[in-house]
Amino acid sequence: MRRGRAIVTTDTNDAVAAVDAARRIHAESRLDGVLSSCDYYLPLAAEIAAELGLPGPRPEAVGVACDKRRTRDRLDRAGIPGPRHRLVPLDDEAGLVSAVEHVGFPLVVKPTDLCAGMFVRRADGWAEVAAAAAELRRFEVNARGQWREPVVLLEEYLVGPEFSVESWVRGGEIHTVGVTDKSLGGASGFVETGHMFPARLDAADRAGLVSSAESAIRAVGLDHGVVHTELRLTGAGPRIIEINPRPAGNQITELIRHVEGIDLPRVAVELALGRDPSTAGGDDTGGRPRSAAVQMLVPDRVGVLDRIDGASGVAAHPAIAAVDFKQPGHRVTVGADNNSYLGSVLVTSDEPTGARPIAEQLMATISVGYREESAP
Ligand SMILES: Nc1ncnc2c1ncn2[C@@H]1O[C@H](COP(=O)(O)OP(=O)(O)O)[C@@H](O)[C@H]1O
Ligand SMILES: [Mg+2]
Repeated sequence: MRRGRAIVTTDTNDAVAAVDAARRIHAESRLDGVLSSCDYYLPLAAEIAAELGLPGPRPEAVGVACDKRRTRDRLDRAGIPGPRHRLVPLDDEAGLVSAVEHVGFPLVVKPTDLCAGMFVRRADGWAEVAAAAAELRRFEVNARGQWREPVVLLEEYLVGPEFSVESWVRGGEIHTVGVTDKSLGGASGFVETGHMFPARLDAADRAGLVSSAESAIRAVGLDHGVVHTELRLTGAGPRIIEINPRPAGNQITELIRHVEGIDLPRVAVELALGRDPSTAGGDDTGGRPRSAAVQMLVPDRVGVLDRIDGASGVAAHPAIAAVDFKQPGHRVTVGADNNSYLGSVLVTSDEPTGARPIAEQLMATISVGYREESAP
């Protein structure tokens, strides 16, 4: 099967070079659309599409959504309630002190330009702020070799369960597909341990979350593409955590595919091609489950994976739609972000909120054995 016509090598961390390369390809053989599956290149993909006159979101809006500081500023200006927050250059010790005083404990220390919960830490005191800032100072370049913003964002800690709203936007019109819930844990407390779609929510809370997400999408100006908006439902109402101008990760799109028959990665492709996804026609064979959930296996220590016990029993369970576990020998890093999973189970249920308990029960039957790393 022919999957592509050519591989063109260019420096994707140099926007001018990348846009130039795209122009040359487009002149030779017309491109139909531009997409990136990597968060760090979403702004570049939007810029290339705009430069070439291809369908895509406004680059400025993608830039705002991909920068947590700019997102906060934009939401504030739109009057959308959010946490107290302050941005501080990483080398500004005095600025850090006054920012902490402004935000107050407990707070969240986070980078503006990473993803997967990397370096996002809760701090209840000074020692934790200092440790989190020091950690960020040492992480100067991201996984794609891009220099990072040498800043830290402090946010008031928002108390409440977490959800995400999954939408797609075309011509500025927002189509919300549904709301996913999220369980959290791991070393930082912010590792995503599981999701269910649709979320267990009453109609009023669901409507509140959807309306907040839609207001936030409008406020940042995202007019095209699939969007995954994260929120916490606090005592004072929904509060935006962040807006991702791309389909959800962590198999959430699979949960939605099972329950709704909508394939959001496919929707992203249709939109990038300038087509209307609502006319694409999902697999509407009926008989779909009413809920789907994924539960992650999060490591609780570092070492080398020796064995995962119970995996075959889990795989044989009738509710299972997919199982995936790492192989023995896999090196385990601390479970402080969403990059360190040892596996996952995806289950479906015919009950509206039935999938999560099954997924949690099944994962509870799994036990992990580690061995010490042998000296090199
Ligand atoms: N202000 C906040 N209050 C409470 N929890 C937060 C806050 N900001 C982030 N978090 C937690 O940290 C997680 C990761 O932060 P997020 O801003 O989504 O960064 P990332 O881009 O790495 O996913 C969130 O899903 C949420 O659980
Ligand atoms: Mg997030």
